[in-house]
Amino acid sequence: MTKVLVGLQWGDEGKGKIVDLLSQKSDMVIRFQGGCNAGHTVIANGETFKLHLIPSGILNPNTICILGSEVVIDMEVLINEINSLKERGISLDNFHISPYAHITMPYHRLTDSLEEKSRLKKIGTTAKGIGPTYTDKVNRSGIRLIDLFDKNIYFKRLFEIIEKKKLALSVYKDFIESDNAFDLYSVYNESLNLFESLKPYIKDSTDLVYQYKKSKKSIIMEGAQGSMLDINSTDYPFVTSSHTLSGAACLGTGITPMDITSVLGIAKAYATRVGSGNFPTELEDNDFDSIGYKIRKEGKEFGTTTGRIRRCGWLDLVLLKKAVLANGVTELALMKIDVLNDFDEIKICVDYDKDKNPIYVSFDGWEKINFPNIHDNVYKYIKFIEDYLEVPIAYLSVGPEREMTISLSKTSIEL
Ligand code: GDP
Ligand code: IMO
Ligand code: MG
Repeated sequence: MTKVLVGLQWGDEGKGKIVDLLSQKSDMVIRFQGGCNAGHTVIANGETFKLHLIPSGILNPNTICILGSEVVIDMEVLINEINSLKERGISLDNFHISPYAHITMPYHRLTDSLEEKSRLKKIGTTAKGIGPTYTDKVNRSGIRLIDLFDKNIYFKRLFEIIEKKKLALSVYKDFIESDNAFDLYSVYNESLNLFESLKPYIKDSTDLVYQYKKSKKSIIMEGAQGSMLDINSTDYPFVTSSHTLSGAACLGTGITPMDITSVLGIAKAYATRVGSGNFPTELEDNDFDSIGYKIRKEGKEFGTTTGRIRRCGWLDLVLLKKAVLANGVTELALMKIDVLNDFDEIKICVDYDKDKNPIYVSFDGWEKINFPNIHDNVYKYIKFIEDYLEVPIAYLSVGPEREMTISLSKTSIEL
């Protein structure tokens, strides 16, 4: 059984929580794209874990956790994450990184910031160097983990790349002269140091994935970001630089389209977005009485990676339906419904008028979810979503902790 798990909105839907939850009964988790722009929060047994690169299945010591070759690796971030998990007693014995994954180099981080500065309309990137890493990958000027095994070849390649970059980026020379990011020897030495710490985890797991598939083990494909941030999204250029849709689970992982048995789409019961770009149902949040402010406060809507404020708005079913279709979603997890407690009125966008303003349907609010019993008005709200999207809600998340999840469908893994 291979289940692909993707965010259906603009990221931060709660993917980490659901991957962790389902990993308790899964044999393998493979993260298939993105880099340390991701921030996945897992709360289990009273402890909070913030993960950027390591798959959110890592808390189950029996689950093999893999980073596929489409993931881009910031070695420093990854080592910090490994060390902080180890300090908390989490085993990394089952953690594997594809040797073919590309490395986010110091000059990628710098380039990300410089490019953003030079943009008239800011994207609001996470400044983690993700776009420039993928750019170099596609341009065949990237550096993969495997390239660092032979120091001589690596040195020559790095020399060529850095020389070219210095020329190309001479427009920014006032900024880069004082920076070590383009200093060949410092980049070379520093990267080899980091690489030494990662070496024990670098292994090609493709054969293991084939064996697991053959013996019908349960595999979760973990997506990062969200469908509306896919590089092909109509909101381009206000997107990330990887493919975030379910199809990308078949890139660099050993999984093929024929292996996928279900696609679990994760969506918040409302909507949030970090960074710039179109957000039709965005709510004002500039005063303490505004609905946007209330959602942000109750939902603790601040970015896990950058700490930035997340823009908040009502659920947009028009966009969500597009995401459901683009991913081939077979079941849904609806997250953070508890954040909507205590609203007199809750709205859902079902269409747009001729000026592209959202057309809303209104719902009566509810005081409390009363977990595990659910208020009738909550049922009305989620039933409307199911009917519109024509996909069953398999999981309803009513709090950040692992156990604050209700399994609603016969097809969902028993919790
Ligand atoms: P991800 O990037 O999709 O993994 O999501 P993030 O972890 O960045 O953001 C989701 C946030 O919502 C995290 O702080 C979670 O702990 C929290 N969360 C997840 N599910 C729920 C829920 O049902 N209710 C509440 N109140 N918080 C939730
Ligand atoms: P998770 O996995 C929310 C957004 C950034 C910016 C745009 C491009 O936690 O859901 P990038 O650094 O990728 O070039 O930035 O994408 N973005 C995210 N927003 N959650 C994420 O990841 C995101 N990763 C990138 O805010 O608007
Ligand atoms: Mg996140």
